[in-house]
Amino acid sequence: MNVRATHSADASTVEDALAADNQNAVIDSKSATEVAMSNTLLTPRFYTTDFDEMDAIDVTPVRADWDKLIAAMKSDPNKGHFKKNEDWDDVDWDGMEPKLKAEFIDFLISSCTAEFSGCVLYKEMKRRGSNEDITTLFQLMARDEARHAGFINDALREAGIAVNLGFLTQQKKYTYFRPKFIYYATYLSEKIGYARYITIYRHLEAHPEHRFHPIFKWFREWCNDEFSHGEAFALLMKTDPKLTQSWSNKLWIKFFLTAVYGTMYVRDHQRPEFHKALGVDPDWYAHSVFEKTSEISKQVFPLTLDIDHPRWQPTLERLNRASVQVALAKKQGGVGGMLKRIGGMTKAALAFASLYTIPAIKHDVPVSTRMEPAY
Ligand SMILES: [Fe+2]
Ligand SMILES: [Fe+2]
Repeated sequence: MNVRATHSADASTVEDALAADNQNAVIDSKSATEVAMSNTLLTPRFYTTDFDEMDAIDVTPVRADWDKLIAAMKSDPNKGHFKKNEDWDDVDWDGMEPKLKAEFIDFLISSCTAEFSGCVLYKEMKRRGSNEDITTLFQLMARDEARHAGFINDALREAGIAVNLGFLTQQKKYTYFRPKFIYYATYLSEKIGYARYITIYRHLEAHPEHRFHPIFKWFREWCNDEFSHGEAFALLMKTDPKLTQSWSNKLWIKFFLTAVYGTMYVRDHQRPEFHKALGVDPDWYAHSVFEKTSEISKQVFPLTLDIDHPRWQPTLERLNRASVQVALAKKQGGVGGMLKRIGGMTKAALAFASLYTIPAIKHDVPVSTRMEPAY
């Protein structure tokens, strides 16, 4: 008999996780859903792709590693983990400093949207596919992301906020990416997600006085899920050496690395109070996350960005200033605002080009990609 899960954490499939009671928000928070709906360069997007092309992937070249990874994901060590238990402390939302509260809520909404974006893409791949290897993987990954999103929604609900995931699925704009771009972007977002969560987790382990919300206690198991998802994309890319070895694809890889790192830097610098409360310097945090992500991505990418190059840090700062200018100009509106906005966008494009043209560091890629979380 199939018993319906009442909490997404206990569900075995993505369908059950999405139908669980905690996903059906009692409170439909309009403003939170609006934030999640917004599509700018800095907000998480929803993606669609050529599902038939992805369904045609043959994992034979990586079969041994593939089967091990799938078996580990099927064994489901994190089942039941992503829900409140006795480790969950009371959160004093009303007593929270208003700026911190606003930034933290923004962080939670954007994280929830990003988790759910993965869920929607993976679930759709599972639904459309007929290749058992591929549909099995995507079902497992969608299950995890639905649990992650459900847990963030639990945290938000305590603040009287919920993101309407059903509404997002139907109404949010979908961006089309061809499969290889999905591999590069999703691989990186899974691995950088791992690096972000584990860096915060380890920092708070050493400085528990900065743990201003209980959700951070869950970050270690959380990031292990993201790590496995990244492993899966590394294997998918390994099935076709052209994806990572051809001259033009190397340029694309460099592009995605630069875009993902640059976006993270700018997005995090919009939340100064959040980082202050965590006791984290956002520049230190960015560098530490980039270092980990670069180290991990050597498993499949033949190049990494030179994040110690003298031009790297000052240009990131320039990109950030340009992005602040664009945001302020948008608020200002009118002709003056539009001109400032164009100016800001030009500066941002130039800064991005400058980051992109820093010579990359080349290296050999190992035959087998498989890694275990090591941080
Ligand atoms: Fe996730
Ligand atoms: Fe993930």
